[in-house]
Amino acid sequence: MQQPVYENIEATFSPQNLKDEIVKGLENSQACISPKFLYDKLGSHLFTAITYLPEYYPTVTEREIFLKFKEEIALSMGSNHCLIDLGAGNCQKAESIFDAIKPSTYVAVDFSIEYLQEVLPKLQGKYPEIKMMGVGMDFSNHLSLPTSIPNIQRNFFYPGSSIGNFSQTQAGHLLDQIKSSSDQGGLLLGVDLMKEDAVLLNAYDDPLKLTAAFNLNILRVVNTLINSNFNVKDFRHTITINHPMQRVELYLEALRDVTVSWANGTRSFKAGELIHTENSHKYSVTSIQALLKASGFSRFKTWTDSKDYFALIYAQ
Ligand SMILES: C[S@@+](CC[C@H](N)C(=O)[O-])C[C@H]1O[C@@H](n2cnc3c(N)ncnc32)[C@H](O)[C@@H]1O
Repeated sequence: MQQPVYENIEATFSPQNLKDEIVKGLENSQACISPKFLYDKLGSHLFTAITYLPEYYPTVTEREIFLKFKEEIALSMGSNHCLIDLGAGNCQKAESIFDAIKPSTYVAVDFSIEYLQEVLPKLQGKYPEIKMMGVGMDFSNHLSLPTSIPNIQRNFFYPGSSIGNFSQTQAGHLLDQIKSSSDQGGLLLGVDLMKEDAVLLNAYDDPLKLTAAFNLNILRVVNTLINSNFNVKDFRHTITINHPMQRVELYLEALRDVTVSWANGTRSFKAGELIHTENSHKYSVTSIQALLKASGFSRFKTWTDSKDYFALIYAQ
């Protein structure tokens, strides 16, 4: 049976760089941990579980758009291309459009390498006609694709509104790099649109507490990477909707006074103090197109769902 090829861009996630990044964040007056650390193997499984929640509208809604407009999307993207899925996760979204867009090569890029190695062989088994490649990479600073990725028409795929985890400046930097690597292809981008608070609160603080488990797991990831002694029981998941910044913010709140240590460092948290773990920026169709234009994209096809919760844009 055909097996996917793997390549890790190790320079983007050297263990020392990851440690330094975590310690720097913990030593900030507003402690923070980058959201990419939410995704070890368990975190990726927890995120996949979240996508099955009816409250987590981004997945449900994006799926509705794919189903309704699959043929139009395929017409815009063309066929026989190389589909590069950024932050591929369980690869289910790409799989849902394989039949329509018929890529000749599928490249799944993700920081969560163990999870990628679990899901990609199964996908390859189902689609032996598509050449598949897994790329382990942290693209938060730099998108450096392996030279072995075919130079045929490259279509990037960045669904799930993962772009919302970045600030506008960081998002613009990533879009610049996508534009310059996309050859004659383009970018199929999923973006979450601003909506009423109740929907956001239910999605990011769900009643089954899956998002809480997903967020708290970041402390275990940090313990593994910097050998610290966070106790998950000392913190709780909490969110804020920051209207001026048009984003949902995820935090872990200390339930009591705690001191956390690691080699060469400690950090004390007062009860109620917060660790910032994720931003999820929301856009309007106009504001995301403006960001895409600033990166050199000039032609857009845009599809939205019946409630205008989410937009899918093919940009060239
Ligand atoms: C919100 S999930 C989206 C998964 C899937 N694309 C979807 O839409 O359901 C974000 C994915 O991006 C990956 N990811 C997050 N930050 C990353 C980074 N800096 N570099 C590479 N992958 C990253 C995570 O491991 C995770 O699989």
